[in-house]
Amino acid sequence: MFPTIRMRRLRENPILRRMVEETSVEIEDFIYPLFIDENIKNKKEINSMPGIYRFPLEKLTDEIKELEELGIKAVLLFGIPSCKDEKASSAYDKNGIIQKAIKKIKNESNLLVMADLCMCEYTSHGHCGIISGGKILNDNTLEIYQKIALSYAESGVDVIAPSGMMDGQVKAIREILDKNGYEYLPIMAYSAKYSSSLYSPFREAADSAPKFGDRKTYQMNYSNAREAMREIELDILEGADIIMVKPAMFYLDIIRMARDNFKLPIAAYNVSGEYSMVKSASMSGYLDEISVVREILTSIKRAGADIIITYHAKDYAKWRKEGII
Ligand code: PBG
Ligand code: ZN
Repeated sequence: MFPTIRMRRLRENPILRRMVEETSVEIEDFIYPLFIDENIKNKKEINSMPGIYRFPLEKLTDEIKELEELGIKAVLLFGIPSCKDEKASSAYDKNGIIQKAIKKIKNESNLLVMADLCMCEYTSHGHCGIISGGKILNDNTLEIYQKIALSYAESGVDVIAPSGMMDGQVKAIREILDKNGYEYLPIMAYSAKYSSSLYSPFREAADSAPKFGDRKTYQMNYSNAREAMREIELDILEGADIIMVKPAMFYLDIIRMARDNFKLPIAAYNVSGEYSMVKSASMSGYLDEISVVREILTSIKRAGADIIITYHAKDYAKWRKEGII
């Protein structure tokens, strides 16, 4: 009576199998993080992130050339300044490390230049905001974020990505940009950014670990999913153009929920700790790097992300170029 349904029919022929694939990961989906360090003369590998380096401004040229040759289209900049203070003043210095890097990369390439906007790499205490009496002050911090945003805009940045998780940060940044004629400069908001153990390799890379306490009063509690929808909703109301979920791998449910609830493009940040875990397992021979990276990146897209910020971008692009994947 009923025909026998055989799911395996579409799995037999590799061409057909490829044809019915629901999800693809393209190099155009990637944003590659770049660490620019004012304190070094030569590129320096990050201990806990094999294959990822900090670059001095002077040695950036080769790297951006390589990225373009690999077909990578976008970078996300993080700065390590020579001077840190209580108020992160080097973050909004006209001649700060990121301001210079934006100009240089825009000058020398066609890359889309995005810049992370936060204070933790620039403060002596390592927190993402202004501190008084041991507390991180929300609204005073917003004023600094506005100064940083304006200085990035004046340097020619293509996208601003605020990552400090202060309430009202998107609104504050949108306001200062609009007031100064940057109405068309997009904001990619770190909307649902969790307080995660997976950032520690990044904090080594960016020298941005908090000197006391933790980030639990501003970053999200990883037990919460509905709260992430509130965070995202607020960022959209405040004028975000792209929303972000961070980290990615342990938060695929949040990406999916965001996809089902909102219409904006979603970026997922496949963070430093996710990268380090995969690298160290691959280097020990416990996992096959190429297949595990493909599976992870595919799962992030399948969950609903449009864009992936990932340290694997260069490797993935190389494997493509070599015809391995
Ligand atoms: C700065 C910032 C962090 C990351 C991106 N922007 C670190 C943090 O919040 O401590 C983490 C990225 C990564 O782990 O790859 N606020
Ligand atoms: Zn920060």
